[in-house]
Order: sequence, then structure tokens, then C-alpha cells
Amino acid sequence: MFNIAIDGPAGAGKSTIAKTLAKNLGFIYVDTGALYRAVALFMQSRGITTDDTEAVQAALRSADIELRFVDGAQRVYLNGQDVSEDIRTPEVSAAASAFSAIPAVREFLFHLQQSIAAENDCIMDGRDIGTVVLPDADLKIFLTATAEDRAMRRHLQFLEQGIASSYEEVLADQKQRDYQDTHREISPLKAADDAIVVDTTGNEFEQSVSILMNLIKENLK
Ligand code: DC
Repeated sequence: MFNIAIDGPAGAGKSTIAKTLAKNLGFIYVDTGALYRAVALFMQSRGITTDDTEAVQAALRSADIELRFVDGAQRVYLNGQDVSEDIRTPEVSAAASAFSAIPAVREFLFHLQQSIAAENDCIMDGRDIGTVVLPDADLKIFLTATAEDRAMRRHLQFLEQGIASSYEEVLADQKQRDYQDTHREISPLKAADDAIVVDTTGNEFEQSVSILMNLIKENLK
């Protein structure tokens, strides 16, 4: 199987770029953030908070999280229910970042991610794919951009979707998440030593896609 790991901070364009690349290549695109979001949604629905790690660990035993691929698009199922839309709220974003710092949560999702990669040619995006989940990936890319550039993109996306948004708030939320994701003890967000770092600041979407596509072509040979 050919596995491509794409890591980087929120809002660098990982998911939109990876989706397009996967389509071009006929690979599946695996958005691992959705798994952490599903765990967060599950814990929230049971009133479990991050400070009670024993309750988190116990609850994970009754969480069945599954990814299904419909026409190449990923859907996330939590105990048999499609939660693909429910996991996209700002509340779930913040909770996912917090729950993802708990070792039992990472352990729980680790095997699921590895088995998907073992069975499929895939582009997997996340925070620790190149460093922890797929240390032997065929190609590792670390996609980044300035905090301001990333926040502006998110802000414009919200407005496009008709969601009220303030740039300052998006920037502040994102800085908070960046801090949490890079400073956690377990599997913090960082580039693998053998990752190729691509900075998308100021790029048009197509530019970034073509930079990555060229890197992939070089490595597929
Ligand atoms: O990519 P995203 O914004 O959907 O991810 C939500 C949160 O999940 C993010 O703040 C950090 C966490 N996450 C992680 O710790 N490891 C991953 N591989 C993917 C996401």
C-alpha cells in the first residue's frame, strides 16, 4: 500500500488539499481529526469532562467509531450513527483538542488509523501521522502557514457557509488550539524529521495542490 502522511496545524489547508490529491490519485482520504472529534462528541453526550480521565477511559469501551467511504468521501459513524456534520461545531473543535491530549484516547484511535492505512492506498491527515501513526509512510508532508493566514482562510470559509464569524475570534481560538496541540505531552504536533515542510502562506489553492502533486509524483516513481 502507498501511504502519504500530511500533518500540520489547523487551517493550513490540509483537508481540502488532501481531498483533491486523493481524488486525483484514486486513493482514499482519511481525516483523522474527525476521529478525535467523534470521541469528543461522544464524551460530551455523556457529560464526561477531560479532568476525569478514568471516566474517559471507561467510556471508550462503549464507543464504536468507524469510518466509511462513500464515493471516496469519508463519513464518520459513532455507535452506528452518521455524525459527520455534528462534529464540525466550534464546541466540538475545542473539545477534540482537549480530549486528544489524553493518552487513552490516542491509544484507542491509534490501531484504527493503522489498520486503515494497512488496507488502503491513502492520504492520511492529522497531527502525528508522520511521527507516530505511520512512521514508515512512503511520503511525509508537513503543511503549514502563518497563524494569520490560516485564521483568515477559516474566517472566509465560515462566511461563505453563512456562519457569522469574527476574524479576531477565529484567530484567538486557533492560537489556543495550536498551543494545546503543540504543547501536549503525548504525540504533540510537530514535523517528522524526514517530513517535507511546505508553507502555503499566500498561496492559491491550486498552487498548493500542484506543489504537493509534484512531490507525490517524484515519490511514486
Ligand atoms: O484536524 P482537526 O481540526 O479536525 O482536529 C481536531 C483536533 O483533534 C485537533 O485540535 C487536534 C486533534 N488531532 C490530533 O491530536 N491528532 C490527529 N492526528 C488529528 C487531530
